[in-house]
Amino acid sequence: MTSAPPQLGDWPGEIIVAADGDTRNRRAAQLFASIVSRAAADRGRAMVALSGGNTPRALYRLLAQPEWRDRIPWDKLHVFWSDERYLPPTDPQSNFRVADEALLSRVPIPSKNIHRFLTEQGTAEEVASDYEQAIRDAFDPEPPRFDLVLLGLGSNAHTASLFPFSDVLRMRERLVAADFIEEVNGERLTFLPALINSAQNVLFLVNGAEKSEVVRDVISSPYEPERLPAQLIRPHPGSLTWLLDAPAARLVADISQSA
Ligand code: 6PG
Repeated sequence: MTSAPPQLGDWPGEIIVAADGDTRNRRAAQLFASIVSRAAADRGRAMVALSGGNTPRALYRLLAQPEWRDRIPWDKLHVFWSDERYLPPTDPQSNFRVADEALLSRVPIPSKNIHRFLTEQGTAEEVASDYEQAIRDAFDPEPPRFDLVLLGLGSNAHTASLFPFSDVLRMRERLVAADFIEEVNGERLTFLPALINSAQNVLFLVNGAEKSEVVRDVISSPYEPERLPAQLIRPHPGSLTWLLDAPAARLVADISQSA
């Protein structure tokens, strides 16, 4: 059952505004490195789900730089993806390929710690189901609880591959699902809200003036999760952080703090 609709006053997230993209990426790298290092120290490993799209590319490239690469215990980090396109891992549009090229191929993370959607091994439904089982196995005997889930935000308020008015928004019995998205004319694979909301830390990275209205709608408009799926992301007891550059934060500046 969805918890009570969030109102502006009790919005569970922290909104951090960075003056520009570089400041935002550095703050994101700080959050990434501290969450991963703390989890590795506390429990011997860190479980992180990367996001897709264009926004995180700059962060991935920054994390591969010696300044950040040398701060992260890559041998203790396990990476997953909060969503994926149903494409071969070699496809330029693959979220795995984007992260592999910008980051994973440039840091000493063991290949066994890279857990991608095996999109070449079955139908979209089968791939989603296998990925859910792989996540459950990775956390067994504990329930899945990622240390960090990275997310982006589409101009239509989708996040991961949770698109407006899609059937998967109402799925409660699954953690990962496949969904054909008319808008992109393709099959997508996605974490469902329950899996994201069980995370200890959820971090939205949003950049650019073209996202300012959807950021305001998601954060400030009444609760309409079918139209604004990103409103479904309300981790509890985990933390929710919005890390925005100034143009993206233009319409929520009055409730934000500066990076
Ligand atoms: C994907 C992403 C998706 C993305 C948003 C924002 O697979 O495309 O997971 O949810 O985060 O569409 O994309 P941009 O960062 O390219 O604006």
